Amino acid sequence: MANEVDVSERIHQLAELLRAECSQAYNGQENRWQEYAPLIRSLFFCDLIAKTNNFGAITWLGHPIWQNILDLWTIQETIAEVRPSLLIECGTNRGGSSLFFAHLFDLLGEGEVITIDVERMHQLSHPRITYLLGSSTCSEILSEVHSRTSRADGPVMVILDSDHSEPHVREELKHYAPLVTPGSYCLVQDGVIDTLSIFSPGRPGPLPAIERFLRTTQEFELDQERSQRFLITHHPKGWLRRKKAA
Ligand SMILES: C[S@@+](CC[C@H](N)C(=O)[O-])C[C@H]1O[C@@H](n2cnc3c(N)ncnc32)[C@H](O)[C@@H]1O
Repeated sequence: MANEVDVSERIHQLAELLRAECSQAYNGQENRWQEYAPLIRSLFFCDLIAKTNNFGAITWLGHPIWQNILDLWTIQETIAEVRPSLLIECGTNRGGSSLFFAHLFDLLGEGEVITIDVERMHQLSHPRITYLLGSSTCSEILSEVHSRTSRADGPVMVILDSDHSEPHVREELKHYAPLVTPGSYCLVQDGVIDTLSIFSPGRPGPLPAIERFLRTTQEFELDQERSQRFLITHHPKGWLRRKKAA
């Protein structure tokens, strides 16, 4: 009990210290704040993940959508900017994310979604969504995706949110990145697996696959600003933009 009091007293003192540092920062010493900001961000992020059960109970119009809502907002902004005629999502799960994209397309007046999963875990349907059942990297699925992509008459965007193991993400990047049109994006989700220790059992995850991909391609570049839009993100180095022809 005595120890617990000591610890909580110490945490309180540290919080006071940080508050004092913050008020100094607001008096023109922003550089001091930068020393603490990453730590505070990381503490908050871990707390947020714990509180929301890693965003496991988020819903879109009542349907489960397994997304960090800050990242989801960046996706919304990107869709409105790129205006994909086709969005390919690997990892349907309970269907909330593809439904969210389809509803955005309803508002924008254009766009279709292909979403792929090894399991069907929902009863949803929407005229803009095609649900494919199978592994995202198996030949039948790839051939269906290729045939749909060849008929797309505008930007193609890809979101990789299926099996987050490094080998699978590497395979997905090999097959799906070439489908992205110049100026559009491949979003590789959940690189957070490789940065927060709470996710370490899932390593190696997407991040080494992304880094390897970026080292070996001239076609894509990392959109760091988009990847860090709200400072905390499940998708570090996740937004890969296909370069436009010079
Ligand atoms: C993180 S969930 C997707 C969450 C969903 N995009 C959302 O925002 O609600 C990952 C999904 O990938 C699926 N999955 C796992 N391995 C897969 C594979 N090889 N191909 C396609 N989907 C796969 C799982 O069945 C699971 O439903």
